[in-house]
Parts: sequence; structure tokens; C-alpha cells
Amino acid sequence: MMDWRQLYESKLTSADEAVRRIPNGSRVFFGQAANQPPVLVDALVRGYRQFRDLEIVHWVPMGKSEYCDPKMKGHMRHNALFVGNSTRSAVQEGRADYTPFFYHQAPRFFSDGTFPIDAALVSVTPPDAHGYVSLGVSVGGTKAAALNAGLVIAQVNDQMPRTMGDSFLHVSQLSCCVEASTPLPELSPGPIGEVGEAIGRNIAALVEDGSTLQLGIGSIPDAVLKFLGDKKDLGIHSEMFSDGVVDLYEKGVITGANKTLDRGKMVAAFLMGTRKLYDFVDNHPGVLVKTVDYVNNPAVICQNPKVVAINSCLQVDLNGQVNSESMGVKQFSGVGGQLDYVRGAAMCPDGKAILAMPSTARQGEISRIVPVFEAGTTVTTTRTDVHYIVTEYGAVNLRGKSLRERARLLISIAHPKFREQLREACRSRYGEED
Ligand code: COA
Repeated sequence: MMDWRQLYESKLTSADEAVRRIPNGSRVFFGQAANQPPVLVDALVRGYRQFRDLEIVHWVPMGKSEYCDPKMKGHMRHNALFVGNSTRSAVQEGRADYTPFFYHQAPRFFSDGTFPIDAALVSVTPPDAHGYVSLGVSVGGTKAAALNAGLVIAQVNDQMPRTMGDSFLHVSQLSCCVEASTPLPELSPGPIGEVGEAIGRNIAALVEDGSTLQLGIGSIPDAVLKFLGDKKDLGIHSEMFSDGVVDLYEKGVITGANKTLDRGKMVAAFLMGTRKLYDFVDNHPGVLVKTVDYVNNPAVICQNPKVVAINSCLQVDLNGQVNSESMGVKQFSGVGGQLDYVRGAAMCPDGKAILAMPSTARQGEISRIVPVFEAGTTVTTTRTDVHYIVTEYGAVNLRGKSLRERARLLISIAHPKFREQLREACRSRYGEED
């Protein structure tokens, strides 16, 4: 067998040469979030005129997303698995698409013909002494895409951390390699504010010592972490995590000592934060970055004790239906792993699924707790799945409650200025509320 070093040398090429290998009509996958390989994406965008009918697919975008520009028509079109800031207008204006599926099912769909991938463009570390590269900060759905694509093009980036878990590919599994050192995209924690702090406090009150936490995307999870400093032996089994978790780990609050699966380890499918986080996870044996058919599988999630799933939402109606991804008919983000964790927490005997939001939007002009959704609004978490809803005014448990009781509970955590209006809607639907 050829020495892996010779094999690796034989696969080295330039970004322009590498992307030229992508056949027209291909479905092209980009590594997720901070795994997106900027040098390869730039080469694809730069050379767009040579391609016809490429379909660009990925979750959370962190780059400029120029492949969504109107001039790309006929050359490439984006199909989002999760819509982000840089792709939202293209999706909402009909220049790009959105495809919903449970995040944990991605590896199966990539391999069973439901959603095949032709080419995977990923970022990896330089090879180790054994010829293995690491996908670093994003293994979740990225590894399955790489394992199932006919063509795997890797940007070999010495700034990518080498993570433990399930992040490794052998150089023989890569079609070609482009060496380029580029900084990873960073996501800094935003300001939390008074409302965020109140939400964080209300959620933290539901977290018991020894809980296994999942933290979703956005500012609310960061706010929660701020109020967990006095807890003991928390564990992390989470689709993603960010810088806030590092602080709690260093303070000794996160030990994972009470976990049943991966005891003493923090488990994630991908990591998104600042360089501080990326340096922390580099070669860290206490952090396992694994594929989503494991990390996000409800049947796995529920095996840890006291699972607390913390995610954000956009709107809740008086039945407890939750919209986390659309503004009316317009796609705003995506389902991501929300349902994976809501259901995983529900299958855990002492689990809690928490969905949180500020009580109002548009500078307080509109209530996020509404009598009914606008036509076309997506129901992300159904009223049958819903458990806890949290705003800055408190936390309510809707499980086992009648629709009339749910309405009363939800009104109690709505912004006071909208409560009378909501009570009126409740009275006209159910008669007297009490
Ligand atoms: N009507 C009108 N505008 C609304 C609104 C509503 N009901 N709800 C929110 N908005 C506006 C906000 O005011 C805000 O606008 P601004 O940026 O101008 O202030 C904007 O929409 C975003 O809302 P915000 O609550 O700040 O969003 P966020 O960044 O905290 O993200 C979700 C919240 C729900 C979009 C995001 O968590 C998500 O996509 N979740 C689904 C996937 C998921 O949960 N995955 C979990 C595993 S990682």
C-alpha cells in the first residue's frame, strides 16, 4: 500500500483546479458553519460561469453566500437546510430554496438516496502521524456528507482545531486537497440585556444539579449559562455549544459526572464561537464532536439523566403551538435540531424541553404570544410536543394541561400590555377563563 504521505502529496492541488472537477448538475455540500471551506467556496463563486445547474446545500451559513446572487441563475442555486442572515433574502425572494428535515436523519438521507450528495467541500486539519485529518468544529452532518459524496474536496487548514470523537477521515477518503491557512469564522456572544437576563434566570431556575444540557442557537442560551454558576455536576450533550460552556467548564460547574452516556465528556455535533472556543476544543479529550445520528438522535438523547433542552422560538399561540422558523409564509431560519431535542427530552423520564422567547418583538410593538398564527406560519413544535414555555415574565409547564388552561398559563407570561387582548381572545374561544 502507498504510504499515506505520498498519497496525500498526490492529492494536493489548487482551489481552482479542485472545483473544476465538480460535474454540472451536481448537488454540492459545504461543511457546516465554521467548517465551510472559504478558499473552495471562493473558487466556486469566482468560476461560476463554467458551471451549470449546481445545487449548493448546507446548514448554518457563516460566509458571504455570494452563490445566492441573482447573477448565479442557471449556474448555481442554493438549497438551504437552515436559513441564516446571509441567505435569508435569497430564500424569501425565491432565488433559493429551503428543505426541512430532522437534523438527526441527515446521515441516513445522505446514504439511502433520499438526499444524495455528489460533491462535499469541507475543511480539515493537516494529517496527523497516521494520515488522519479531523473535521474539527463540525462533524454533525458534515462527516456523513463526506462519506457519501463521490467527490470530496478538502481545504487543509492549519487553523482548524483537531477534535476528538468521530471527527476523523483518512487522507485516502479525500479526492483532492487544497492547503490554505485561513481564520475560522467567529460568532461573538451578543449583548444580553435586561429581558435576556430575566429569561436566563427563569430557565436557570428549572435546571437541577446533575442535569444534562442541550443549548440551542442564539442569545438566550448564552443568557442561561450566565445564571448556572452555582449548579453542580452539569453535563453537556448538545447539538452545538459556544464560548459560555467553556467558562462553566473551567469553573468546575460542568463535570459530566452524572451522565450515563459519555460520562465526564462534553458531546456536540458542531461548535460555533470565538477563537477561545476553538483553542479550547483543540486536542481536548473531554470534548467529543460526533455525528448527528448519535448526538441528535432522540433515542440517544433520552439516555442521559435530567435532560434539559433549551431552545429559542419566535411565536407561541394560545394552544401552545410553537413557531421557531417563519414569519408568516416567509422562511426565517429552520427546524434544525429543535424537534430532535424536544422529543429526546420528552423521552427522558425526568427531562424538560424548554422553549424560550422575549414576550414581544419589534421594540415591544407586538406580542409573541398570539391568539392564532397568521396563515402560512410554520408550526415547528406541535402543541402535543410542547412542554415548558419561558419569557421574561416566567416559565409555564403546558404538559398535561387543557387548551383552556394552556391559554391561561401563556397569558400569565405574556407582556402585561397584551394580556387583556389575549384574555378577550381566550374568553371568546372558551367562555370564562377561570
Ligand atoms: N414577529 C415579528 N418579528 C419577530 C417575531 C415575531 N413574532 N419574533 C421575532 N421577531 C424579530 C425579532 O424582533 C428580531 O428582530 P431584530 O433582529 O430586528 O431585533 C428577529 O426577528 C430575530 O428574533 P430573535 O428572537 O432575536 O431571534 P434569535 O436570533 O434569538 O433566534 C430563532 C431565534 C427561533 C430564530 C432561532 O433560535 C432558531 O432558528 N431556532 C430554530 C432551530 C432550533 O431551535 N435549533 C436548536 C438546535 S441548535
